[in-house]
Amino acid sequence: MKTSILLAITCVFALSCTHDAIIQPINADSTGIVVVNPIPTVKSDTVCFNSEVLPLFTTYCSSTGCHNTITRSKGIVLTSYATIMNGIRPGLPNSSKYYKEIGNGMPPPSSPQLTTVQLEQIKKWINQGAKNTNCVNSCDTTKFTFSSPIQALITNNCSGCHGVKPGSGNVYLGDYASAKAFITANKVRFLNAINHSASLVPSKRMPPSNKMVDCQIVQFTKWINNGYPQ
Ligand code: HEC
Repeated sequence: MKTSILLAITCVFALSCTHDAIIQPINADSTGIVVVNPIPTVKSDTVCFNSEVLPLFTTYCSSTGCHNTITRSKGIVLTSYATIMNGIRPGLPNSSKYYKEIGNGMPPPSSPQLTTVQLEQIKKWINQGAKNTNCVNSCDTTKFTFSSPIQALITNNCSGCHGVKPGSGNVYLGDYASAKAFITANKVRFLNAINHSASLVPSKRMPPSNKMVDCQIVQFTKWINNGYPQ
């Protein structure tokens, strides 16, 4: 039901609009999800929570033993919009605990750190109102080289857990050669993991707790099937 309402709104939007806009679902109470830019070729300036912010919290803050639903370090869980909002104040990055701590002790110094670009992205999202923006297929599937977009996909979705050797589950994806070597030797395993295949136990679905959006999975798959272009 919710999906059909969103779909209906999305269709109306797709037909009637050619530039970026945010759709506020009429029943914003139930999901709070704001659908942005269903048209693949149009790039909005709106930061997408589902594909650009949530993965940063998941990969850099919720690896094994940290802020995930199992270990809940210090009672903090950073794997969903609702729980991330416990430490975010819309429009006020400098009063947002979960933003301010990043780079000030968190992630711990021994763990992979967020880049300035990634921090700016979170800040921009907070300044835009920290909404639960859900971007549907807003990436370009004709692009699939390592330099763009695959390297950024790995950095934004995987590096917190697989960016420092040996990497969670002994999977290290921290540079081109290592990623290519691992995937070449484990292609089916890798594709099943990023597709959140139903045949896998949940702990092997990657990234854990949030699947990449479909067009990003297509970019990854094309990169692999086309021989890992640089
Ligand atoms: C929050 C931490 C975390 C993130 C983020 C993450 N992984 Fe993992 N990954 C793990 C852990 C932990 C394991 C070991 C799971 C197990 O053996 O049960 C693992 C295992 C894997 C495996 C092996 C699965 C198997 O069949 O044994 C692959 C492939 C993988 N990850 C790929 C990725 C990719 C690609 C990304 C990013 C798109 C990613 N992971 C993001 C923590 C993470």
